Amino acid sequence: MTHITIEVNGKPVTADVTPRTHLADFLREHLLLTGTHIGCEHGVCGACTVEIDGEIARSCITFAVACDGARVRTIESFDDDPLMARMRDAFSTSHALQCGYCTPGMLIAARDLVRRKAAEPGLDIRTEMSGNLCRCTGYAGIIEAIETVTAEAPAVPALAGYRWVGPAPGPGAATTQPTKAPVPTAARPVTPAAPKAAPPAVASRPIKVEVGAITVVDGETRFTESFVLEHSRAAVWDLMRDPQKVAACMPGLALDPPAANDHLTGRMEVKLGPISAGFSGEGAMSRDDAGHHMMIEGRGSDRKSGSRASGRVEYVLSETATGGGGAGTRVDCVIAFTLQGPLAQFGRSDLVRDLVARIGEAFARNVDMRLRAPEGAVVAPAELGGFSLVLGVLLGRLRRLLLRLLGR
Ligand code: FES
Ligand code: FES
Repeated sequence: MTHITIEVNGKPVTADVTPRTHLADFLREHLLLTGTHIGCEHGVCGACTVEIDGEIARSCITFAVACDGARVRTIESFDDDPLMARMRDAFSTSHALQCGYCTPGMLIAARDLVRRKAAEPGLDIRTEMSGNLCRCTGYAGIIEAIETVTAEAPAVPALAGYRWVGPAPGPGAATTQPTKAPVPTAARPVTPAAPKAAPPAVASRPIKVEVGAITVVDGETRFTESFVLEHSRAAVWDLMRDPQKVAACMPGLALDPPAANDHLTGRMEVKLGPISAGFSGEGAMSRDDAGHHMMIEGRGSDRKSGSRASGRVEYVLSETATGGGGAGTRVDCVIAFTLQGPLAQFGRSDLVRDLVARIGEAFARNVDMRLRAPEGAVVAPAELGGFSLVLGVLLGRLRRLLLRLLGR
């Protein structure tokens, strides 16, 4: 037996399970959540679809032990979800079910499709939903229901604040993801719009980031980082007091729409050399507007790599003079994090200094670009390439070593 702890529908559940128990059986037989149906038990029919760490997955081919530390959401937890409510209504109106056996999995997959791809032109709903089988309806009603909800997507509160479609944008996704709520195909004008002049692009400029001493205490890596921006403190604070705007400047990070009580949920894509991980997690923030001080704490896990992370970022803004003598803002950050699992090697390694400096530089450049961008300008954020990040760090070290050997 293996002892596991899973968050199921918002509640922590601990249990001892055999390694071969699949998640669908665990949900149905241990937790009596029988809304998750089992059809083929081969990953073909989609009846067992649930959400794991915010992404849909087949619970019949997922071992319960592999979900240790994960957040699982079954059909029973979507009662208060506005998008799911809309989807249920549409299924009912379009007669999208008969026996209802496929319906829980179909609803979860359909909601996920609308959430991720409502804005995609020419969305092929039939193909996208081909992983969910229905033996009764002939699919016509199901497709019609999803089309209806897709066309209404911007009016659904759950989507109003979404800045991206698809899985959380990784470092390379920022230039291609929409930055506004999805616009349905049906709402687009029929007559071609007059050609518009391309909005001005904003170029990135380098910003020096100072990294303080890195210490590791009880497995927690701590360091300070600071940089100066050529913008007023009021302008910088207006951006950095908002976690959504901060997340938009951090490569690989995407937050869910704001929730109550300053509770944050989201996803961080990390790619370091051969290791890639997608951390789903949650956190909280506290803010002192008068002191221009903010603290964000969070924790998350990556089910695929088995890595876990927790940490906090604290920053304070102060007025300063820039190199050119103008008014600027100094950003002082204190960062602490703990990594467990395969990615932990990057937490202990002395590569950390180079890595955090590069991440900090990308973040500072993105903040600077957004503050300089006029209305409507295209901001292509500075990115962190996975392999290039590690390669760049190693090349930098090699260059320093050669210079030392050559006595320069
Ligand atoms: S029961 Fe899981 S895909 Fe069919
Ligand atoms: S409604 Fe019966 S299997 Fe889909």
